[in-house]
Amino acid sequence: MTIPAPVPARFITFEGGEGAGKTTQIAALTDHLRATGATVTVTREPGGTPDAEAIRALLVSGEAGRWDPLAETLLHLAARRQHLQRLIRPALDRGEWVLCDRFLDSTRAYQGAAQGVAPAVIEHLAAPVMEGLEPGLTLILDLPPEAGLARAAARGDTGRYERWPLAHHQAIRQAFLDIGAGEPQRCQVIDAQQSPEAVATAVWQAVQQRFPEAA
Ligand SMILES: Nc1ncnc2c1ncn2[C@@H]1O[C@H](COP(=O)(O)OP(=O)(O)OP(=O)(O)O)[C@@H](O)[C@H]1O
Ligand SMILES: [Mg+2]
Repeated sequence: MTIPAPVPARFITFEGGEGAGKTTQIAALTDHLRATGATVTVTREPGGTPDAEAIRALLVSGEAGRWDPLAETLLHLAARRQHLQRLIRPALDRGEWVLCDRFLDSTRAYQGAAQGVAPAVIEHLAAPVMEGLEPGLTLILDLPPEAGLARAAARGDTGRYERWPLAHHQAIRQAFLDIGAGEPQRCQVIDAQQSPEAVATAVWQAVQQRFPEAA
């Protein structure tokens, strides 16, 4: 007897380094889904609710080395828990699509691979936060960190993570690629050096493949 695969949650996360095009592509996918009549909640991490946005302000400003890595991990997870309980789960329960700019894979890449928090510690702490919920689809926008940081700088973005050393950003890119390779069912890696339109086409193809009802 074959056990049917679980239905993926209509919860799509966008991941990738600085300036990869996450925010640009979320806007395009939102338009695309809404054009089909879908109800879409668009949100971001860290943040997404007033309290989680207050935690975000602590994370994205100040000195690059401001936070102890485990303390930083706990702040991200505290913000995520609040976001899940107050915004994401209620929206999914109402039958809406939820598109989220960054999520747990960013914790794995930024606090795990770049800052050295052990993967087992992150998974152990994340389990009670997530309570088994997992994104139905994760789109990993991949490009060399130099290119992404140049885009972010051209936009005038000089937040705390943008000021991390290049080696951190290289480790982050590799971590996202490893996550994508390790979880091919959930994750799709997309070449983010293509034009925004070409990336949007690849995103829409991935969404239709994972959620045939979206078409
Ligand atoms: N495919 C693309 N090619 C060239 N430029 C792009 C592309 N996608 C987005 N951009 C531009 O690059 C900049 C960064 O894009 P965007 O804000 O969408 O990235 P992001 O991943 O959300 O960045 P951050 O991590 O800083 O939030 C913007 O100025 C955007 O207009
Ligand atoms: Mg963005």
